[in-house]
Amino acid sequence: MIKKVTGKLFNSITRKSRMKKISILIDNGLPIQMKSILNYLVTGHSDEKTAAVVKLAEGRRKEIAGKGDEKIPIWYSPKPDSSGSDTSINARPQPGKVLEFTMKRIAMTGKNQTWGTVLYLLAREFESSVGIELGTCAGISSMYLSSAPNVKLIITVEGSEALANIARESLKSNQNVKVVNALFDEAIDFELPSLDSKIDMAFIDGHHEKIATIHYFNKILPFLNPGSVVIFDDISWSHDMRDAWNILSNRNEFLHAMDLGELGVCIVKKRSDNPEMKPLYWDLQPIVGRRSIGDPHGWKE
Ligand SMILES: C[S@@+](CC[C@H](N)C(=O)[O-])C[C@H]1O[C@@H](n2cnc3c(N)ncnc32)[C@H](O)[C@@H]1O
Repeated sequence: MIKKVTGKLFNSITRKSRMKKISILIDNGLPIQMKSILNYLVTGHSDEKTAAVVKLAEGRRKEIAGKGDEKIPIWYSPKPDSSGSDTSINARPQPGKVLEFTMKRIAMTGKNQTWGTVLYLLAREFESSVGIELGTCAGISSMYLSSAPNVKLIITVEGSEALANIARESLKSNQNVKVVNALFDEAIDFELPSLDSKIDMAFIDGHHEKIATIHYFNKILPFLNPGSVVIFDDISWSHDMRDAWNILSNRNEFLHAMDLGELGVCIVKKRSDNPEMKPLYWDLQPIVGRRSIGDPHGWKE
């Protein structure tokens, strides 16, 4: 409670200077699309359209949470280093064990309102058209992503059949989402080569283990258009995931790598960009709030 109040006080005192920092970063080359996203994270204010998207997604979250102690299988992220060392596209990192979560916990497992809104704004501001999401859960983040006006198709992948069905229910009004009940590797193999065009957005939000995360990115990379947005979730969830981010955010395929603490957002280079150049790294945590690196527990051996 005290932490919450001091946090709020700190936020309001520093708001002006953080807003000023955003303008300075934009002047120094941070993608302009990040302006409204950072402004939202600093002020909490959003426009009417965004508020309507939030209302729908959070209404559905409440509905799911309302199912309380009913249990559902979920593929829990495996222990760091349990996926071997092969990040190549031919590898098959082993997914985590299937655990039973209550619906109350499932509702909290997806991105919360703030980060769901950020996903919506990322898809909107970068004008994403076709994207893949690895890790659907109950479909809350897919609701946010697919509500952006330019989005024609989101392919979202979930290993748990029960969760995929819950997500289909969440997304019944979002005609631009295809929920695929499969392992991530299988879905990438089947879905991406059969599309008419390449994709321009990827959100990797499941199987949070370094080798697996790098592997999924390597596998998606040939299907990404220049200028694509790649969002890595939970980059501060564990030291292992921070390692993944440190490696990925230094890859020459990216022009920008932006550290929001909770998410890492990367922009794929265009053909006119120097292929040898390292990405421009933007530590945005001083603006949006520092995230300490987690120490996940509860591993089931
Ligand atoms: C963190 S949740 C996704 C949350 C969702 N993106 C949201 O914000 O609403 C990760 C999901 O990925 C699924 N998952 C994890 N590893 C998987 C794998 N290798 N293949 C398929 N699904 C997997 C889990 O069952 C879980 O529902």
